[in-house]
Amino acid sequence: MDFLLQLKKKAQAKHAVIVFPESKDERILKATSEILREKIAEIILLGDPEKINEQAKSLSLDVSQARMIDPRTDENTQKYIEQYCEKRKHKGCTLESAKGLLMTNYIYYGAMLVENGVAEGMVAGATAPTADTFKAGLHCIGLKEKSTQISSYFVMLLPNNQTIGEKGLFLMADCAVIPDPNADQLAEISLETAANFWDLFGIEPRVALLSFSTKGSSKDPSVVKLREALKITKSKKASLLIDGEMQVDTALIPDVAERKDPGGEIGGKANVLIFPNLEAANIAYKLVERTANAEALGPIFTGLKKPINDLSRGSTIEDIIGTVIVTALQS
Ligand SMILES: CC(C)(COP(=O)(O)OP(=O)(O)OC[C@H]1O[C@@H](n2cnc3c(N)ncnc32)[C@H](O)[C@@H]1OP(=O)(O)O)[C@@H](O)C(=O)NCCC(=O)NCCS
Repeated sequence: MDFLLQLKKKAQAKHAVIVFPESKDERILKATSEILREKIAEIILLGDPEKINEQAKSLSLDVSQARMIDPRTDENTQKYIEQYCEKRKHKGCTLESAKGLLMTNYIYYGAMLVENGVAEGMVAGATAPTADTFKAGLHCIGLKEKSTQISSYFVMLLPNNQTIGEKGLFLMADCAVIPDPNADQLAEISLETAANFWDLFGIEPRVALLSFSTKGSSKDPSVVKLREALKITKSKKASLLIDGEMQVDTALIPDVAERKDPGGEIGGKANVLIFPNLEAANIAYKLVERTANAEALGPIFTGLKKPINDLSRGSTIEDIIGTVIVTALQS
């Protein structure tokens, strides 16, 4: 099944407005041209329209249907600066420092467009580190009710292996934000990622808490943390199909699951993989992406009131378009 095509059709029907703050990046312009051509979303590009058009022309791209907002001349700029300043005044923010930030780092400006409903979502991070997109989201948009954190997941699509996850589709979390989540944070990561899987694909999530151990008797703190996270997650959502701790082969391969975890609830058919920490998760997703030629969309942030998503700086144009599709569907 072509899951990406399915998501694309849903996004086309929704036609959300997505802002790209990094319009100087060639990949962003190429993705914009493709998104507009396929009518996946409406696009706002931040920057000097003359320069954007010039660069697009030199690349033989048509971005004429994109809305272009130049923060230096936009009539709402002062309003956004004042709003940002108000949000961060407890951290000593002044109008001058807010102006300095919004006018030099358009990721913050883009986040203020989302906060004000001018755009319904933002995709950034083609050239900036995750921390920039993360902080713009946290400070300009804030957490949704009942969320205590921003975490993230990747949508992984394996083109040549329909036996893993859900016919080659699975989510991996948290590959980008929380370096060493405790049990409560892992439980929230599990619940949020599972909910996103259901919202995007309408398929029941089967969540595996991954470790080097499969329901062993290890007293290693990392394993104890996972067992605690399992308990907390189940206490918050008893109906969620989640199990662990388990090794990744037990999570993904039914034969191995039968041997290592007979009678286990996941049965080697996990479609949501939760990693014990950022180190393992980030290495794992890149390994799958690069060695199995998987499409990796994200990192998709969870926990924010409105969707702001990040890109890996190594993102391809396809990755950028895919992340816009997911962002549009989160809005
Ligand atoms: C996300 C990250 C940038 C936050 O770092 P930081 O700004 O140094 O975080 P701090 O611990 O100093 O906290 C700063 C503020 O953010 C908040 N915060 C930190 N992590 C948070 C999270 N996951 N969700 C919500 N708030 C968070 C803190 O509570 C604190 O709030 P306060 O200012 O109101 O006190 C950091 O965890 C990080 O670098 N993660 C890895 C990113 C990365 O390199 N990913 C790999 C590339 S894809």
